[in-house]
Amino acid sequence: MHIADVARSGREGSEYSIRGWIYRTRSSGSIVFSVIRDETGIMQCTVKKSDVAQEDFAGAQKALIESSVECSGLLKKDERAPGGFELRATSFHVVSFAEPFPITANQSEPFLLDNRHLWIRSREQTAVMKIKETLLQGARTWFRENDFFEVTPPILTTNACEGGTTLFSLKYFGQDAYLSQSAQMYLEAMTASLEKVFAVTPSFRAEKSRTPRHLTEYWHMEGEEAWVGNEGNMKIQEELVSAIASSVAKERKDDLALIGRKVDDLKAVEPPFERITYERAIELLNGKGKEMSFGDDLGTDEERLLTEELAAPIFVTNFPKSLKAFYMKDNEDDLRTYKCADMLAPEGFGEIIGGSERETDYGKLIRRMEEQKIPLEPYRWYLDLRKYGSVQHSGFGLGIERVVRWICKLEHIRDATPFPRTPSRIYP
Ligand code: 4AD
Ligand code: MG
Repeated sequence: MHIADVARSGREGSEYSIRGWIYRTRSSGSIVFSVIRDETGIMQCTVKKSDVAQEDFAGAQKALIESSVECSGLLKKDERAPGGFELRATSFHVVSFAEPFPITANQSEPFLLDNRHLWIRSREQTAVMKIKETLLQGARTWFRENDFFEVTPPILTTNACEGGTTLFSLKYFGQDAYLSQSAQMYLEAMTASLEKVFAVTPSFRAEKSRTPRHLTEYWHMEGEEAWVGNEGNMKIQEELVSAIASSVAKERKDDLALIGRKVDDLKAVEPPFERITYERAIELLNGKGKEMSFGDDLGTDEERLLTEELAAPIFVTNFPKSLKAFYMKDNEDDLRTYKCADMLAPEGFGEIIGGSERETDYGKLIRRMEEQKIPLEPYRWYLDLRKYGSVQHSGFGLGIERVVRWICKLEHIRDATPFPRTPSRIYP
């Protein structure tokens, strides 16, 4: 049985069998205290020389931490044991003896990252992986309840969605190709049949910047909706993110406690989220002593200043055109800007979503691409979409690890993913 189920059933004196990996072990003479870890928790097995076969006792004495083991025994209440129970072993079988485990207390970050394949066994990392899984499931449930179809766009592409500076390029049988930065353009194509679609895919950014919020490979959750404008797009995003926060708050209380995030913090995430224009954001930043003017981009520092005192995410809308991609829709009320919005997470975490209404006018798109010297050829199919029954549509991209980082209050985004990819790391 799983350890959490044994503790939950709690029938003292009954015999149970558990299996897992040795989390801690110590022995004193004729008794070994072996704390076993499985996916659900930890439990102490007390192995007495007089209660088990000779080879079982010898195995328990010899087995180092992270050895895999199976233990059967009688359940006993014990206030001092983690979880309040222990098993008095009747048998103890070592499945595989571990070598001395390289990960011990107080090791350097590079060492831990080199041993990431082992470090992910830690309870904190396990909690984060579980929260990430719950968050993905919560999002999928929300999408399904709101008539979105999950679709499977390609990762190998010939066009850049988010500009040429962060592209990973490769040779595709002699032809130039790239790893996808965003599924957006393919999702736009699919809205003409499915109307509302979403995809969860890896996205790649050859970002040289070493920041606590950039990975070179990350998981991207993107939505695209026909017949929806910028305001409707924001409504979808705030409901989605609230649903994500509430599914984690409901299903992952123990894991949140283990990593030090209060459940109540997540309960504060409820629609509607505050909306401020980019222009207002600049005023606010000036008020906080940050000298900026219209056209300057919001970076890590600026987003921290805007959000550090907030409890829920906000939208910053209507960015200047020079800061955003060519496919966005003009804001007719202020032609210096687009109909777009970034969602910023509270407590200083900053951007977790980028989204916009899309330009539907064929001529406007061509003019913008020519102005920005973007070659038309790779985008022919994308431009085609404007020729055959184009309708108002909008979409967004949510960085899964950015959201995990915020929800788990992680200092660095690399801890939001089991095998992080950064400019200096592609191993293990
Ligand atoms: O703001 P971005 O670049 O927008 C797009 O890619 C749009 N085409 C999405 C769309 O409309 N379908 O990226 C979207 C989100 C960001 O808000 C951020 O959360 C995440 O992707 N992101 C990264 N996450 C981790 N590491 C990086 N290097 C990231 N770059 C973007
Ligand atoms: Mg962005």
